[in-house]
Amino acid sequence: MGMDLLVGRTALVTGGARGIGRAICRVLARDGARVAVNYLRNERAARETIELLGKNADKSILARADVSQESDVNRMVDRVRTKLGPIDLLVNNAGIAESVDHSKITFDSWKRMFEVNVDGPFLTTWAVKDEMIERCFGRIVNISSLSGLVRKKDQIHYGTTKAAVNSFTKHCAQALAPFNVRVNCVAPGLTRTELSMSANPDIPRLIALTDMGRMAEPSEIAEVVAFLLSEKSSFISGQTLSVCGGRV
Ligand SMILES: NC(=O)c1ccc[n+]([C@@H]2O[C@H](COP(=O)([O-])OP(=O)(O)OC[C@H]3O[C@@H](n4cnc5c(N)ncnc54)[C@H](OP(=O)(O)O)[C@@H]3O)[C@@H](O)[C@H]2O)c1
Repeated sequence: MGMDLLVGRTALVTGGARGIGRAICRVLARDGARVAVNYLRNERAARETIELLGKNADKSILARADVSQESDVNRMVDRVRTKLGPIDLLVNNAGIAESVDHSKITFDSWKRMFEVNVDGPFLTTWAVKDEMIERCFGRIVNISSLSGLVRKKDQIHYGTTKAAVNSFTKHCAQALAPFNVRVNCVAPGLTRTELSMSANPDIPRLIALTDMGRMAEPSEIAEVVAFLLSEKSSFISGQTLSVCGGRV
């Protein structure tokens, strides 16, 4: 049942085709938003996400772009604006991850991790913020990770990008608060998606470190994102909220 908390709002969800991003698209559409589903390569998954939006599918569009490429991001944001109206809600969810021994981290793999996980949120935020400032309304949620808060084996480059996202959140929140733009961050613990299955070689050990003794379902992350985008969280900005079943 929809809660109508986001009726009339336009949302852009990066990496909305699969995993946590898909779950976010579903919850935002359920709550009444028009949703632009960004993806990079997997158009089929993006189309499936739109089909899953049910009666809200006709208010939603596909939005292909590599979030690490400035011209691609600007083109995508222009298209979303034209089709769905000014972007009220931005979710910076697209990300890549891997767990590798330090000896396997090259400067190229370090740079690509930063391009997607850090340049991505910067470029999308910069593409929407001036219009948010002008309209005096905006809600942004970045997705970081527990790896940005606590050390996790073999995640030197990934963890460093996610710590950067936490700091980006705080600093943007301070700069944009005078314009009624709230910026928050969700740091998921282990969540059942393709990324977590491929990037975490030792899932039983991570589950054992989690008080609740299990991993999250993507919908459990998505509900927190929807809360932070809604007016139920009207006095929360600059925060990173861990959604991790008591892991930290
Ligand atoms: N799953 C976890 O346990 C977990 C835990 C903590 C944090 N997180 C974070 O949560 C976010 C989502 O993770 P997930 O597990 O849902 O991942 P996922 O299942 O691998 O999905 C990633 C999504 O991001 C998109 N994407 C990747 N690179 C992109 C780029 N350069 N431009 C545009 N889109 C791009 C993918 O598009 P295509 O479909 O086109 O490939 C896909 O839709 C990530 O930021 C991740 O770091 C996940």
